[in-house]
Amino acid sequence: MQKILVARPIFPDVIERLKQHFEVDWNNGDALPADELARRLADKDGALTAGDPINAAMLAAAPRLRVVANMAVGYNNFDMAAFNAANVLGTNTPDVLNETTADFGWALMMAAARRITESEHYLRAGKWEKWSYDMFIGPDVYGSTLGVVGMGRIGQAIARRAQGFNMRVIYHNRSRVAPEIESALNAEYRTKEALLREADHVVLVLPYTAENHHTIGAAELALMKPTATLTNVARGGIVDDAALAEALRERRIAAAGLDVFEGEPKVHPALLTVPNVVLTPHIASASEATRRAMANLAADNLIAALGEGPRAGRPPNPINPDVMGKARS
Ligand code: GLV
Repeated sequence: MQKILVARPIFPDVIERLKQHFEVDWNNGDALPADELARRLADKDGALTAGDPINAAMLAAAPRLRVVANMAVGYNNFDMAAFNAANVLGTNTPDVLNETTADFGWALMMAAARRITESEHYLRAGKWEKWSYDMFIGPDVYGSTLGVVGMGRIGQAIARRAQGFNMRVIYHNRSRVAPEIESALNAEYRTKEALLREADHVVLVLPYTAENHHTIGAAELALMKPTATLTNVARGGIVDDAALAEALRERRIAAAGLDVFEGEPKVHPALLTVPNVVLTPHIASASEATRRAMANLAADNLIAALGEGPRAGRPPNPINPDVMGKARS
């Protein structure tokens, strides 16, 4: 029987499914430190990860390893140059989380704009003694301009929801999306700078790559309106968290909603001290149904990549399909 490592706790019934195909080494505990992860990968044919960094040294030390299935749509934890050089397939879990993540992007954007967590903290602290016309006033969402940075599947799902809020939608993406998608979403392309100047609510949904490290830093924040909000449901590192904390503290933008952080699960201490930011622990895809769908899709990818039967060698979500069928190197 082929051997796999499941590097993280996941639904036990998905482990049972995997056990029908593989000998499973399951880390049902905290994330493994790099040296232990490398050690436990060394004799495996496949692995299921959830954000665990997989690098060239780990692949070199695991000569049988042919596939690593990430239980996430983002795969910046994989060194894809190393995967390609070693002919190791990486897979991810796109699509199944689009709507759940888009819902959460909206929840964060609305909570930031309408100051929901900030006002709840005030109420819980027993500070609410009287009503006042200017208590927790903030910018409107309905009828405002939404700026989506990263118009992929999740960005489009976020933009679609804007129609019910009578919003103007502008977007920035590496390349323009097809004209029929632009017209279905009523979305207009902008350069990043123009979008930041014009949008009332900016939502980041782009993948993390070396090129877009700190794509929102001090200079970009300075372009935004003082009444605007910034929401990040993409990846830590896309935003310069220190620069954002400073912009929030100085009210150079109104508020932010963040589900992802540079160096998470650590959070930049300055963000913890500014009131006008809503902070959540990387849970945008965390509905029961979606997390189940992601776990099962990661398992489908492993089973198809390593298994026998009609889909053998043809997993649904290959990241680097060019390595399929090539011998490990
Ligand atoms: C979650 O962050 C994902 O990439 O799926």
